Amino acid sequence: MNLVLMGLPGAGKGTQAEKIVEQYGIPHISTGDMFRAAMKEGTELGLKAKAYMDEGALVPDEVTIGIVRERLSKEDCENGFLLDGFPRTVPQAEALESILEGLNKKIDFVLNIDVDQSILMERLTGRRICKNCGATYHLVFNPPAVEGVCDRCGGELYQRADDNADTVQNRLDVNIKQSKPLLDFYTEKGYLRNIDGQREISEVFADIQTLLGGLK
Ligand code: AP5
Ligand code: ZN
Repeated sequence: MNLVLMGLPGAGKGTQAEKIVEQYGIPHISTGDMFRAAMKEGTELGLKAKAYMDEGALVPDEVTIGIVRERLSKEDCENGFLLDGFPRTVPQAEALESILEGLNKKIDFVLNIDVDQSILMERLTGRRICKNCGATYHLVFNPPAVEGVCDRCGGELYQRADDNADTVQNRLDVNIKQSKPLLDFYTEKGYLRNIDGQREISEVFADIQTLLGGLK
């Protein structure tokens, strides 16, 4: 199945993506994760992306579209994929349509995790991530059994550089502005499915499973 996961920063895309890819065995393609990996490796892409990410701005479309085009043409996407955090602008969505057409593929669903803006700041500033396996936690909403330690692998938890209050506010402003035209684009195509993201993590996932039930 070919899926796109949408939602404002902190809506729970990464949290649900972990569960979806585990259950359905499709690759998780997160543009944010790809940029962070490139930054860690110090590649040219990483250097380019860093300036934008540090401010909570969007990386330019041509850079982002290029890495997604390359990633989607890899063999492991043959039986499906989960895009997380891409597309984020209408030009990215249009580019994705043309990339998929070239690969003879089509989106099954765009899942939009819908959460009230007012709770996103708290979700993001309280987020912690495992250095080792990337699992996501929250100090209050989803704490690990032992403070600072990953339940899954024992790795150390850290806070993302762009999860400070100022940068979070910028990310929210930028993404709120982009999201309405993108939602309109996918509503018109008939792909959009809204998921209420303001419940327990397991309840949100249960809804997604119900929706995806019949798909392969
Ligand atoms: P990216 O890494 O994609 O970040 P984001 O979109 O800001 O989204 P997040 O990862 O912050 O949030 P999420 O929805 O995954 O939430 P999570 O599940 O972790 O992008 C980072 C940057 O890269 C961008 O700012 C931009 O610069 C660049 N970039 C990336 N893609 C781009 C693109 N396409 N174009 C241009 N630039 C791009 O959950 C958040 C917290 O809430 C966690 O602590 C979690 O435990 C908790 N939580 C989750 N669900 C629940 C729940 N149901 N109840 C309570 N708590 C919950
Ligand atoms: Zn871990």
